[in-house]
Order: sequence, then C-alpha cells, then structure tokens
Amino acid sequence: MATKFRKIGVLTSGGDAPGMNAAVRAVTRAALARGVEVMGIYGGYRGMIDDDMIPLTAREVSNKISLGGTFLYSDRCLEFKEEAGMQKAIATLKRHEIDGVVAIGGDGTFRGATDLAARGIPTIGIPGTIDNDITATDNTIGFNTAMTAVMENIDRLRDTCESHARCNVVEVMGRGAGDIAINTAIACGAVDAVIPEVKFDEDACIEKIIRLRREGKRNFIVVVSEGVEDCSERLAKKINNITKELSEKENNPAMWVETKFCRLAHVVRGGTPSLSDRILATKMGVRAVDELLAGNSDLIICEKAGEIVTTGIFYSQVLDRMYKGTLKEGMLEKCTEEQIAEMKAIIEEKKRVFAETYKLLCDVTA
Ligand code: F6P
Repeated sequence: MATKFRKIGVLTSGGDAPGMNAAVRAVTRAALARGVEVMGIYGGYRGMIDDDMIPLTAREVSNKISLGGTFLYSDRCLEFKEEAGMQKAIATLKRHEIDGVVAIGGDGTFRGATDLAARGIPTIGIPGTIDNDITATDNTIGFNTAMTAVMENIDRLRDTCESHARCNVVEVMGRGAGDIAINTAIACGAVDAVIPEVKFDEDACIEKIIRLRREGKRNFIVVVSEGVEDCSERLAKKINNITKELSEKENNPAMWVETKFCRLAHVVRGGTPSLSDRILATKMGVRAVDELLAGNSDLIICEKAGEIVTTGIFYSQVLDRMYKGTLKEGMLEKCTEEQIAEMKAIIEEKKRVFAETYKLLCDVTA
C-alpha cells in the first residue's frame, strides 16, 4: 500500500441517486480504518472551488446508510469545466493537504475526475446515477431504488386504471437510456414500453390495446423512457383519441380506452436506498479507497457479472460514446485493437440484452 495518502476528499456530483450516502459512508469508514483522514466536499466540484468541506469522522457518517439524496449535496458545476475553476479547486485541495479524491456520480462527474487526475490529483470515480447509463458497469448506484420507486408508483396507477378501465402512459427518467423503462415495464405488467434502444411500432401497440380491450382487458400501462423524444404525451392522446373514435363508430362505449398521461420525474430519484444499492455502494466505496491507496487513479469502479472491477475512465468514456454513436475524432486512435474489439462486443451484448428484454415484455402481454 502506498504510504503517501494522509487525507482524501469525497464528493457527490451530478443528479443525486439513492445510495450515494451509503457510498460516502463506505469511503469514509474504509479510509479511516486504513489510517487516512477524509474530507467531505459539499456540492460536488463546486465545494472544491469554494472551499466548502468538512472533516468526516466515523460518527459523522452514522445513520446515513438509509438516507436518500446526498448529505454532501450535489451540483452540476460549470465553472469546474474551465481551467481557471479547476486550478482554484486544485489549490483548495492542496491547502487542505488532500492527496486524492473519490468522486461519486455519472459521466459528467467522471469527466471532472479525469481532469483532476490529469493535473496530478489521484481520483477514482464511483458510478452513482439512477439512469444506469455507464456502459462499463452492469449496475450504477441508485438504479435499483429508482426502478423500485417507479414500480410502486405504477402499481398505484394500475389500481385506478383498473377501477376506471383506463390506460396510463407513464414517462420515466433515464436520460438517453431505457434501462429503467424496460425493466419496470416488465415488473409492472405493462402492455408495452417505448425505449430509445428498440424500434417502437406505435400502430402495433395501439392495435394490441384495442384487441385486448375487445377481449375484456380493463387496465393498460405503457411505460415510456424520457429519452424517446416527443412520445409520451402524444402517445397518450393518440391512444385516447383513436379508441374514442372507434367507440363512437361502433357505438360501443367500452371500446374507448380513456388514456391519462403521467410523468413520474424526480419523484423516483428520492427515497431510502434499496438493499442492493446499499450493498453495491458499500462494495464500491471500499474498493475505491483501496484503489486510491494502492496508487491507482483515473479509474471507475464497476460491477461486472457480480464482481467489483475497475475500468479506466477514458476507456469508459470511449465505450459510452461508441455505444451512443457520439465518438469524437481521434478517440479510437488512443485505444488498442483489443480494446476496440472488446468495446464492440460489449455494445453488441448490450443491444442483444435490450432486444431480448423487450421480447420478454411482449411475450407476457396478453
Ligand atoms: O441523470 C439523472 C437524471 O435524473 C436523469 O434521469 C434526468 O434526465 C436528469 O437527471 C434530470 O436532471 P435535473 O435533476 O437537473 O432536472
């Protein structure tokens, strides 16, 4: 173990996620147990620039494991993207004799982490975002809790849809990723899901709803990922209007599937973290400290097939960009042939899993 670490900083940045507190607790307790002091940096990178931080003791992080949100607060700090802001942040770290940083958040947070690492501050990232949109890891902290929150809310909507023989189109968060939408659609018995990863056949969806209504089905749930633009509200109106016209044409009021729209939005980002998020956060927090103290930097902690592993932040960024089709010029040239082949395989596998999961949903809608 490298001996140079006397003090490390920990921050949470970007959209908050349930389980971030559990990760901060794990980082703190693991570092203290290894003889390293910890500073909690408030408001993400903003706290580094403004010198807003507190020493974290073992007791300071007591009772935090079950708290939603982040007690260190969060921010998307634009000033940190500029060199001047970064230099202010580094000066603060030096003043406090902070030798390394654990940054908990999503891809924006990791961009900041890699910038710090490039300027000589060893930094390790921990994926904390409800979106599960970090391609290098199977799971991000907060994803499981957010899905459970979506599921609980949709279960409530279903009750009232059943009473009134209605449909509810529910838009869920996830940014560009359909992970929350497709999984909760299955868990809630939705009739369909609209996600960025799978082509959606709107007519087929409406035909299915009409067919099922003819067979006597009362309630319908359609889950839409916010990443699919101009879809959820429009789809709700369309289902409502087409079935209303049909009911008038057939002079059969039962064929009108009155359709409501609901955007769950930030409601599903709060609340107490689930068991699996607390465990994931604890494993990742401890591993992040071990990586820092072992002299490693510019890495994120990932979970792959149930194992906690590490991935270079640059590799993870290229992988994400390759997946989203937003690669910047020259990025691939910095990767080896093997890495590129591995990334392609990961992306193919991710696409296959999405297609298979969507098929699973279709297989059980009747
Ligand atoms: O990244 C987490 C997330 O909740 C996304 O799902 C969502 O698109 C975005 O953040 C919302 O951001 P804000 O909290 O700034 O409105």
